Amino acid sequence: MKKVFALICTFALTFSLTACENSESSYNSENPVVSTSSESSSTSENSSESETSDISENVGEFDLENGTVLLNSGYTMPILGIGTFTLSNEEAENSVYWALRDGFRLIDTARIYGNEEGVGRGIQRAIDEGICTREEIFVTTKMWTSDYSNGENAIDASLERLGLDYIDLMILHHSQPSNDVDAYKAMEQAVNDGKLRSIGLSNYYEPDDFDRLVSAVTITPALLQNETHPYHQSAEVKSHIAQYGTVLESWFPLGGRGNTQTLFNDETISKIAADHGKSSAQVIIRWHLQAGNIAIPGSSNEAHIAEDHEVFDFELSDEEMRQMTALDKNERFADY
Ligand SMILES: NC(=O)c1ccc[n+]([C@@H]2O[C@H](COP(=O)([O-])OP(=O)(O)OC[C@H]3O[C@@H](n4cnc5c(N)ncnc54)[C@H](OP(=O)(O)O)[C@@H]3O)[C@@H](O)[C@H]2O)c1
Repeated sequence: MKKVFALICTFALTFSLTACENSESSYNSENPVVSTSSESSSTSENSSESETSDISENVGEFDLENGTVLLNSGYTMPILGIGTFTLSNEEAENSVYWALRDGFRLIDTARIYGNEEGVGRGIQRAIDEGICTREEIFVTTKMWTSDYSNGENAIDASLERLGLDYIDLMILHHSQPSNDVDAYKAMEQAVNDGKLRSIGLSNYYEPDDFDRLVSAVTITPALLQNETHPYHQSAEVKSHIAQYGTVLESWFPLGGRGNTQTLFNDETISKIAADHGKSSAQVIIRWHLQAGNIAIPGSSNEAHIAEDHEVFDFELSDEEMRQMTALDKNERFADY
């Protein structure tokens, strides 16, 4: 499997580095330097173990200064984004626009949220105002389970609703052993067709289930998006997927609507927040990033969105990170 991963990385990184030379994107042009020795560029069947680790050296490593991570697809992804679950089209348009204005460059939506059109409008507004270019932003959407048997149409429909000619990352919304491999293969085809750049998964909680899908497909998932927050830190699955260079993204990073006060009022979290002169939300978001979790806090509140981006001007100490790790109860807030 490591050899397969090495081959994918070699191809993807070569492609990405070439693409970056022509890119106007600020975060793309600030790609972390990737180790690409002549040996590691080889696609020979005889690639050695040490070459594998050379190639994958920077994949999955969080760059907290630039706010990015290098995916195993070769694309660079922002580590902090805006989530849009439960937002109407109108709310999503505003949230996405405010978020881009405040410096966010990652946007998370899904077909099932019914707001891809609003998200697309928010993006267009920001582009029209010169806040960002298309290449500077990273858009994620998800394929819903009832679309798995007709993946190609689902991808085209999301592109249409978003008003985009490519999607940076599409993920399968849930594990569904009856036909998720078919859906994933449709996403692989869309990568070949230039409609999708990176592909991944969401809501695969068992390492065996993740492996089931990986063993049936060609492109290793770039990312796994699972419920993850201080009370459910996803340690097991996170270390399992690391062997594939797959990164973890946290949904419900603040606990989710209706649960946030439980985390915000947690004694340890509020104490750390007071010590830094930050809010509990900011401490939790900062913890995600330092722990190596991409975070996509959701909000329809302009002030909260601004606050959620102000997490790059302080750092949690090793001791504070240990205290946060100790909060894990392996307890989910959602039941799906
Ligand atoms: N793959 C999946 O199955 C799945 C499932 C759920 C979510 N997601 C994705 O993950 C994203 C994040 O999850 P989520 O939005 O459900 O939950 P969340 O980000 O954990 O929490 C959202 C809640 O936090 C509040 N909030 C945000 N910033 C705040 C701040 N600075 N101070 C106080 N409250 C704040 C929001 O209220 P206000 O609106 O008032 O700010 C909202 O009530 C979603 O939006 C979605 O994109 C994916």
